[in-house]
Amino acid sequence: MRIDVYTIFPDIFEMPLREGLLGKAIRKGILDIRVHDVRDYAEGRHRQVDDAPFGGGPGMVMKPEPVFAAVTRSLGYGMDELGELRERVRVVMLTPRGERMNQAKVEEMAALEHIALICGRYEGVDERVIEHLCTDTLSIGDYVLSGGEFAALVVIESVTRLVPGVLGNEESLVCESFSGGLLEYPQYTRPADYLGWKVPEVLVSGDHGAVERWRREAAKAWTMKKRPELGGREGGGGDVL
Ligand code: ADE
Repeated sequence: MRIDVYTIFPDIFEMPLREGLLGKAIRKGILDIRVHDVRDYAEGRHRQVDDAPFGGGPGMVMKPEPVFAAVTRSLGYGMDELGELRERVRVVMLTPRGERMNQAKVEEMAALEHIALICGRYEGVDERVIEHLCTDTLSIGDYVLSGGEFAALVVIESVTRLVPGVLGNEESLVCESFSGGLLEYPQYTRPADYLGWKVPEVLVSGDHGAVERWRREAAKAWTMKKRPELGGREGGGGDVL
């Protein structure tokens, strides 16, 4: 999978893309992630990437020209080939105004060959970028970050871990939170008794059927308590497995 990232703070991506499973997958060649500095595509002596909003108001808005130039030139398309570009590449603007991300969207993106992530900054990005360059807008949640960089990292991490070969242990994908509409059941490891706080008896019983039933009920109860809208009610809703 290839992911191109467009940002005015490329250094933010350095460490997260070097460490852990992500770094390993990049070094193995499973992932091809390229980070582009939008400022490199800005014109003029000051390489200005932002300007005051038309109509007034606080803050600055990211100018359209450097963003269009960064995406089209780095991907080898002309400005007269935006239709083709958008057919071949999913171009995603990270913004709190976007569609809210969930595991279904993550799974859909994980099946794509090529994604471009544009990190908005300041008060926003000129709307013509969203209208004529982007295929999607995505928000990672109903809260506001100062820019799209950390949101892009959340997308990269959640999407790429579904790409075959990235995680290593594919089985752990099956019964984790959200994969089936319920939050995951609680996990325990040794010691079975820690300061008098004991692990549920059933988990050390060796009865796999009983363990499975307990986990299912625990997942339902937890989901009902913490996220009732996900459908943790008895008899209704999803399946943890
Ligand atoms: N940029 C600022 N806030 C954001 C959010 N919640 N999701 C995606 N991009 C953002």
